Amino acid sequence: MLKTKLWNIEFKNPVFLAAGVMGETGSALKRMAKNGAGAVCTKSVGIEKKEGHKNPTMVEVEGGFLNAMGLPNPGVEEYILELERIKSEMKRMNVKIIGSIYGKNETEFQKVAENLIPHVDVLELNISCPHAGGGYGSSIGQDKCLSKNVVSAVKSVSDIPVIVKLTPNVTDIKEISNSVVNAGADGIVAINTLGPGMVIDIESKKPVLANKFGGMSGKAIKPIAVKNVYDICSTVEVPVIGVGGITTGYDAIEFMMAGASGVQVGTGVYYRGYDIFQKINQEIEEFLKNRDLNLKDIIGISRK
Ligand code: DOR
Repeated sequence: MLKTKLWNIEFKNPVFLAAGVMGETGSALKRMAKNGAGAVCTKSVGIEKKEGHKNPTMVEVEGGFLNAMGLPNPGVEEYILELERIKSEMKRMNVKIIGSIYGKNETEFQKVAENLIPHVDVLELNISCPHAGGGYGSSIGQDKCLSKNVVSAVKSVSDIPVIVKLTPNVTDIKEISNSVVNAGADGIVAINTLGPGMVIDIESKKPVLANKFGGMSGKAIKPIAVKNVYDICSTVEVPVIGVGGITTGYDAIEFMMAGASGVQVGTGVYYRGYDIFQKINQEIEEFLKNRDLNLKDIIGISRK
């Protein structure tokens, strides 16, 4: 009932693990797959190992989490070894792998992509981290020309679908969506974390994150994510994957009604446990059954 075909790939369900959460090792990805995810997304990887920001890098705050991990990863070559270890079991479980990558410019993106493509089913371009600094992240995703160049460069070497994760921290989400789709993007993931934001501990008189500021995820950003998905779907034809504050099947359905063909779950894993994927799928299925609906019936229905 929940089978979802996107870009000619059949996913057993439309509920995926978002980038950055439980994606640091192959075994963590496998655990999410065993708990019912239709696809799992890796931690964003770059050309070389990156230590990331100092601790604390993630703090629970009102409405969700504030994080400034700083794109820590072992570099693409090391990360591929993690994927090699889980490859056969992921095939057996029929869970697809989305490889998230980042870079400073189109040349870096292209290099990482060339390395990773043989090991993943879909490539997700992270041009949207709000606190990465150093020319990474949203300094690309907030600029329609830089975004376009990155997408064109990756598309020119890719034989698998290339999807682009966007930042909500822009003036015109439709403009940036059109720009990446015109450059060849096969899909859009919306949204990365919101902000950056800051929380200050009034006893220590200091920001709670070592990096001082970071991206906001969780329930508080859900209405913003839904609106972004709604707007993006009104301007481009490619599949859109919704992400931002999804913890229940009802949240997922809301994104689908806004136009999302699938969803990703990140922070939700901390609230409902690893089996959140099974739970969300069950809740979607029950909702549909009780109303005699199919998944296809609800996608974009709020727009009619
Ligand atoms: O909020 C985020 N944190 N978004 C990203 O894209 C990367 C991540 C990090 O590593 O800091």
